[in-house]
Amino acid sequence: MIPLVDLKAQYNSIKDEIDEAIHRVLKSGEFILGKEVEKLEEEIAEYLGARYAIGVASGTDALYLSLLAYGISFGDEVITTPFTFIATSEVISLLGARPVFVDISPKTYNIDPSKIKECINSRTKAIIPVHLYGQPAELDSIIELAKENNLKVIEDAAQSIGAEYKGKKVGHIGDVGCFSFFPSKNLGCFGDGGMVVTDSEEVARKIRMLRTHGSSEKYVHLMIGKNSRLDAIQAAILRVKLKYLQSWTDARRKNAALYNELLKDVVEIPYEMNDCKHVYNQYTIRVDNRERIRSFLKKKGVSTAVHYPIPLHLQKAFSHLGYEKGSFKESEKASREVLSLPNYPELSESDIQRIAMLIKEVV
Ligand SMILES: Cc1ncc(COP(=O)(O)O)c(C=O)c1O
Repeated sequence: MIPLVDLKAQYNSIKDEIDEAIHRVLKSGEFILGKEVEKLEEEIAEYLGARYAIGVASGTDALYLSLLAYGISFGDEVITTPFTFIATSEVISLLGARPVFVDISPKTYNIDPSKIKECINSRTKAIIPVHLYGQPAELDSIIELAKENNLKVIEDAAQSIGAEYKGKKVGHIGDVGCFSFFPSKNLGCFGDGGMVVTDSEEVARKIRMLRTHGSSEKYVHLMIGKNSRLDAIQAAILRVKLKYLQSWTDARRKNAALYNELLKDVVEIPYEMNDCKHVYNQYTIRVDNRERIRSFLKKKGVSTAVHYPIPLHLQKAFSHLGYEKGSFKESEKASREVLSLPNYPELSESDIQRIAMLIKEVV
């Protein structure tokens, strides 16, 4: 069986270092925030070239706390894409604000900047572009629109740590960036974890308080926050893995290049924007007869996934927003056609060749 990701293979390749890091935390007795988290924050900030990084409990919380830090609340509107994981827009609704969806560009699967302007009004407070699958959204046009209209840009970089937009790593090109360390992400921990990244001292200070119940010091609460602390075991694991992230990213890109070579005349392969570096958290093709291909691959022992089968505007959870079928044609079409193939650093060339051969056979 070829899995979609192989987290056991990754653990086995760095087992001694990971075990040592976990034991270091167990012996320290310091389990929540503390030195490991501080060190990880410094190392992530340095890796991304950002001024501040703040560890939080998940990618979802990174988004939630960022919106909270900008005071987004009831009556406000936030523009985002309907073709993403639900967390991106769920946090908008949790704060009482309204997600306003804008369709995607069919090539990149990311929010189409040319369709954003018509959705901006006096209630609009922010835009959340998602760097889907590991490919940066078209940030220049998004940031220009945001500046013209006094909006914040919150990058959902959950799937794209290390991805580059015009030579700069994503996550602090907009006002703030949100990362997820969910196990299957390019940098994943052994549980839940996330990080907010920003170049703004003011925002960093607020996020630090918000993640510990709005407090600046113990039992002194300056604002309403929540418990969203990263724990030391996850931080220690991530510090080990961060050292390998560049080589793992290179391996993912190499896998993608081989898939591209073998599949370019068979299916629609991922498009990589000029001046950008895609980090292929997902290697996602587009096909007409997806279910037939999926079930054939499954029979032959190859796992695949669909990211995502129902666009957010058609989810029951968002039915109150009043969108209907046909509201966002490109997102709906992508939901019917996308198919993610196995891609992880340890995946072998022969596995990729086998998967490509099977796809050729079924197509
Ligand atoms: C695009 C996107 N946004 C947000 C999230 C939420 O991250 P987490 O699962 O760490 O809460 C994820 C990850 O699952 C994601 O893929």
